[in-house]
Amino acid sequence: MYPILPERLADAAQIDSLLDLAFGSDRTRKTVYRLREGVPHIKSLAFVVRDEDGVVLGSIRYWPVTIGEAATPAVMLGPVAVHPDYQGQGIGRALIRHSLYAATRLNHGLCILVGDKPYYEPFGFVNAADRGLEMPGWVERERFQAMELAAGALQGVGGLVGKPVKTGRKKAAA
Ligand SMILES: CC(C)(COP(=O)(O)OP(=O)(O)OC[C@H]1O[C@@H](n2cnc3c(N)ncnc32)[C@H](O)[C@@H]1OP(=O)(O)O)[C@@H](O)C(=O)NCCC(=O)NCCS
Repeated sequence: MYPILPERLADAAQIDSLLDLAFGSDRTRKTVYRLREGVPHIKSLAFVVRDEDGVVLGSIRYWPVTIGEAATPAVMLGPVAVHPDYQGQGIGRALIRHSLYAATRLNHGLCILVGDKPYYEPFGFVNAADRGLEMPGWVERERFQAMELAAGALQGVGGLVGKPVKTGRKKAAA
């Protein structure tokens, strides 16, 4: 099995190509990309699998989001992709497990995603719409999922998923 490694800056171009291959080059039209636009991904939750020559075979990234008027912080899993030649070997599951564990250790309480229910359900994801969460734009209800990383994190949380609240830059000294 290949080790799961932190993503490096130098991986970025390879990851872009991998995502184009896995999702198509029109992938940025998807609703989830509206939540990613202008927001950097969470570096501490970005992992890759590389072969012996440094070629990226799999990648997972997360974005910070907020939920509802209370702006409850959460992380949004994805995209996750594995090169077609290496799919079905457990790399996807390993990337997901490793990163969810890292997210928990880093005290993220809540994770959401838009993806195939049969793939994510075994990790513990439940339907997010049923819990009163909403995605901006159109997303198939069944594909919108959430998981508590901290017990009870979904309690009392509801509303629209949005981008993280900007903290605002300090004014330059006069
Ligand atoms: C989804 C993806 C990341 C899984 O990676 P992987 O390394 O092939 O996955 P694993 O080897 O860990 O798991 C394979 C298992 O998941 C199943 N699986 C893969 N994609 C699935 C999907 N979209 N829905 C349901 N099951 C799926 C496989 O049938 C296989 O099942 P089995 O173990 O019973 O044979 C990879 O197939 C991929 O990059 N797909 C294209 C991009 C994509 O769709 N990404 C996100 C999905 S929402």
